[in-house]
Amino acid sequence: MSSSIKHVAIIMDGNGRWAKMRQRPRVWGHVKGSNNVTEIVKESAKMGLESLTLYAFSTENWSRPQDEVTNLFKLLKKFLIKERKNLIKNNIRFNVIGNYKVLDSKIVQEIETSKKLTANNTGLSLSLAINYGGRAEIIDAVNDFLKDNRAQREVTEEDINKYLYNPELKNIDLLIRTAGDQRVSNFLLWQISYAEMYFTDTKWPDFTTQEFREIIASTEARERRFGGIENTNTLEKNKYLADQNLKILS
Ligand code: FPP
Repeated sequence: MSSSIKHVAIIMDGNGRWAKMRQRPRVWGHVKGSNNVTEIVKESAKMGLESLTLYAFSTENWSRPQDEVTNLFKLLKKFLIKERKNLIKNNIRFNVIGNYKVLDSKIVQEIETSKKLTANNTGLSLSLAINYGGRAEIIDAVNDFLKDNRAQREVTEEDINKYLYNPELKNIDLLIRTAGDQRVSNFLLWQISYAEMYFTDTKWPDFTTQEFREIIASTEARERRFGGIENTNTLEKNKYLADQNLKILS
């Protein structure tokens, strides 16, 4: 896809409210939400997106009622098993960011199996953020750097990029959050530095592939207004704009 939007991240919010509006238990919203993950992943692969990163479970989500946490992990396990054949069929490479090794060993096993079976796929790179926190990721990166370098020199931006959970994800082009709140909620704090933000009122179970495509198209249009240079990434554009400003000042 020759688009300026290559990496998209989504905060999938609103499952609980979606269910409540229908007088159903919250878990019903998560089931619908989980089915929608399948649709959006399929669509992302179809439109040739390079990377999609989805916030499935944050480090803060542990504070939810125990039975909701249990249900979320049950759903996650089901999803991992059910989705595997689609990942293989659609050439999708699967990854997880976050401290997932501390989870139930059966879930860890399912994650490792999906990662292994899709490691050589060359299409969409799909990452689920599970037991993920943006600050924790940066702290882990710095500590891993210190361990490897024994504090012989100061840490650089490149070092942090290298030690993130998935170094390939360092630049997110577009962050979408569903269900009306306009917050980042500790998601990909490092990687969204230059991201476009899009907040929609649609609750995650109602978020359609059509709305997804429309958001990407409208963000591309928004991006193209920057200096009239198309198909370049945000960092290149910022450098271009800075150069223009320097020319004006000199
Ligand atoms: C937000 O809804 C949802 C989450 C806790 C994370 C996303 C989870 C899913 C889409 C379902 C399971 C995921 C996978 C990958 C199988 P909320 O409960 O915060 O909604 P509310 O704000 O309306 O209460």
